[in-house]
Amino acid sequence: MNETLWALGRGTGLVALVMFTIALALGIASRSGRPLPGLGRFGISDLHRTASLTGVGLVAVHLTSLLFDPFAQLRVVDFVLPFFASYRPLWLGLGTLAVDTLAVVTVVSLLRQRLGPRVFRTVHWATYALWPIALLHALGSGTDAGTEWFRGLTAACVVAVVAAVGWRLTPSYAGRGWARHPRRTG
Ligand code: HEM
Repeated sequence: MNETLWALGRGTGLVALVMFTIALALGIASRSGRPLPGLGRFGISDLHRTASLTGVGLVAVHLTSLLFDPFAQLRVVDFVLPFFASYRPLWLGLGTLAVDTLAVVTVVSLLRQRLGPRVFRTVHWATYALWPIALLHALGSGTDAGTEWFRGLTAACVVAVVAAVGWRLTPSYAGRGWARHPRRTG
């Protein structure tokens, strides 16, 4: 039973990290204002939302299963107050910071219509901090962090986010064409 909880805790943490990577990369790429190949404007935002909410659900399972894992020695307070855990307090504390941020971002996103776009946008900026904090937490506390497949997966997550930033910063093909062949006015 303990082995099952431990495996569930690790697996859900890992897939949650992948989901947040997809959500962040899509969020960054969509801000370029260009459609992604194969995904319309609404497709991007639907996928962004689905990946984020799936990540939230998986984090809930991650925390619940590790709460009952005797090795991690977690208390419910460790899910809220960072850096007081008895096992790897720094690395677990980063996980707690990520969860605190996630809770605020999720609630504000769900109340977006009521709170208005300015509050939503300001709070949503915190997701840029959430992702690297969660990544550091995974690298510092994960049993699998020493394995090659784990390093490969986290490297792929970093590449995805860097690629999204690159996509957002480069001018579009249409934009470059426009600059080279400006429309005639006369
Ligand atoms: C956004 C929030 C979080 C994400 C995305 C996340 C993700 C991860 C990932 C990917 C791992 C590595 C799993 C592996 O080795 O295969 C991990 C490990 C771990 N996480 Fe989290 N985590 C989060 C929050 C938390 C919080 C708040 C706690 C508890 C305070 C926590 C407790 C743990 C523990 C105890 C481990 C080590 C499991 C082990 O390998 O024995 N996590 N987490």
